[in-house]
Amino acid sequence: MSETVTSRLSGFHKLPMDERLATLARMFRLSPGDLEQLRGTEALQPVLANQMIENAVGTFSLPLGLGLNLQVNGRDYLVPMAVEEPSVVAAVSFASKIVRENGGFSAEADESMMIGQIQVTRFGDPTEAAEKILAHKEQLLALANSFHPAMVARGGGARDVEVRILPAPEGPRGEPLLVVHILIDTQEAMGANLINTVAEGVAPLVEQITGGKVYLRILSNLADRRLARATCRIPLAALADFEMPGEIIAEGIAQASRFAEADPYRAATHNKGVMNGIDAVAIATGQDWRAIEAGAHAFACRNGQYRPLSTWYLEEGHLVGRIELPMALGMVGGPIKVHPGVQMALKLLRASGVRELSMVFAAVGLAQNFAALRALGSIGIQKGHMALHARCVAVTAGARGDWVEKLADLLVQAGHVKVEKAREILASLSAEDAKAATTGTTV
Ligand code: MEV
Repeated sequence: MSETVTSRLSGFHKLPMDERLATLARMFRLSPGDLEQLRGTEALQPVLANQMIENAVGTFSLPLGLGLNLQVNGRDYLVPMAVEEPSVVAAVSFASKIVRENGGFSAEADESMMIGQIQVTRFGDPTEAAEKILAHKEQLLALANSFHPAMVARGGGARDVEVRILPAPEGPRGEPLLVVHILIDTQEAMGANLINTVAEGVAPLVEQITGGKVYLRILSNLADRRLARATCRIPLAALADFEMPGEIIAEGIAQASRFAEADPYRAATHNKGVMNGIDAVAIATGQDWRAIEAGAHAFACRNGQYRPLSTWYLEEGHLVGRIELPMALGMVGGPIKVHPGVQMALKLLRASGVRELSMVFAAVGLAQNFAALRALGSIGIQKGHMALHARCVAVTAGARGDWVEKLADLLVQAGHVKVEKAREILASLSAEDAKAATTGTTV
């Protein structure tokens, strides 16, 4: 791979798709086959799809875009994003540009520590049962590690056992719940299969120790021992835009953050914006995005109220943004080695391991959120969104090629971004075009 990989590709969005691909080909020394892969013509073959899920009848495509300008801990990343919503890729690229001009994102990620849960019932006295389990911790860990010797050899495996006693949901008359947690370092894997094997494997021993009966044996998607964090710090002056000083824009962002902190209704939408970015890169890189979503939202209400995953505040002439959320990602297992598009996305992303990947994901979430709040806290999002939405409307109305942009601009100018209007304008453009063709003039 070329040493000159940069995520700062000025004017990339204005290039035709073939030229964008040529830029990537030069930067990553991509083969013609790789390029076909990116174009989607060599994407997931039906035969592979048929091996991946049941009742397969075909494959399903999404646009793949590249988030630009991202810099995390001093390293540049081109971010592959699979998403249908206009403005997501542009928002990450835009926010990352402002952040990179002011030092980039700083990020960190925990070890890949996941939780396997075992639900125990009919155990008698809960405190005694818990003590018995903890007294057999080493035996439980040894058994857990016997199921995955290769993972242990790579430095991972079961690390700890915890016991939780929870009040019965039916009230004091019900049996309290006894839940055993096996903490497992899954290294480069997301780890779901591995954890479930361990949870099922040690369950008979848990029953033997407690004399109880085990029901569920499954991982927890609240991966709160596997968090990723990112921060950025932007001088107020760098935020000036829309003919407004940076202080005013920053104040709007900080107010948006306060709103989300106080109100779960707003926090849900705030976090949806965060996940717009994270899900898009998760899909492109073959992650279990439902697991990431579940973990993010459970973490967001860990203190009893649903809160924003990211916060923004003013500090010494800067706007400071922070994000923290569970990040159960994998670079091995699942569809990662099977899906050819995923391999290509990971090649472009260049993360050396799952922790680095988690840091990039966290930074993407923060970037996405910054772009949304910056618009929401100032001029509103509709102006920008409508310009992008207009392109979709233009395509729906039948425009192709150069006409898409032309028609989209006319729709925005008309202030009426609707398919009927688009058809009307398209019809008049086509009529003018036909007339020009017969008279030899250009429209
Ligand atoms: C739209 O997909 C996402 C936003 O609603 C996020 C937000 O409100 O912060 C713009």
